[in-house]
Amino acid sequence: MKEIILNLRDDLKEKLSPQRYEHTISVSFICTALAMRYGADLEQSELAGLLHDCAKYYGDGNIIKKCEKQNIFLTSDELKAPVVLHAKYGAWLAEHKYGIEDKEVLDAIRWHTTGRPDMSLLEKIVFTADYIEPRRDKAADLPIVRSVAFIDLDECVYIILKGTLEYLEGKGYFVDSMSVQAYDYYKKIHEMKKGEL
Ligand SMILES: [Fe+2]
Ligand SMILES: [Fe+2]
Repeated sequence: MKEIILNLRDDLKEKLSPQRYEHTISVSFICTALAMRYGADLEQSELAGLLHDCAKYYGDGNIIKKCEKQNIFLTSDELKAPVVLHAKYGAWLAEHKYGIEDKEVLDAIRWHTTGRPDMSLLEKIVFTADYIEPRRDKAADLPIVRSVAFIDLDECVYIILKGTLEYLEGKGYFVDSMSVQAYDYYKKIHEMKKGEL
């Protein structure tokens, strides 16, 4: 597995822009840090982190064409906000180009942009690592999200989804319904915990 990971890194370094590659490496290591905290498999987490943006070098228009060519079904939401599509096409590439058979890794790539209700531990790790990795510096809530990530992962996912929806709605951008469903799910967990306090 170590060899696969090292080879993948070389391949991605050639394909991705320097900034995207830096982000990718950063995400893969934060995935391993979260895996240590929550008892997930380290190599599986590193691999998912490494591949999460493997389709990011295709532009939005291109990625729609690529998906159509491979008969990958696209929802009407995905067509309206193709920026999330690199996750779906990335999972396809990971399987068919990079030969990854581990369904958990493929799902973690698949859901890293929108999230979804009831995510697996690995899905939550990649989703969170993508947001908190140390090269990120835009979101104002990063300090709090970074600390919550290592305390309560479900709560962290809730905060990320809440902030993302507020940002998208504030800007008048289209919101994928899967993100709304994910938010509703993690909001319920958040409220249940609050009720227990
Ligand atoms: Fe991404
Ligand atoms: Fe990313």
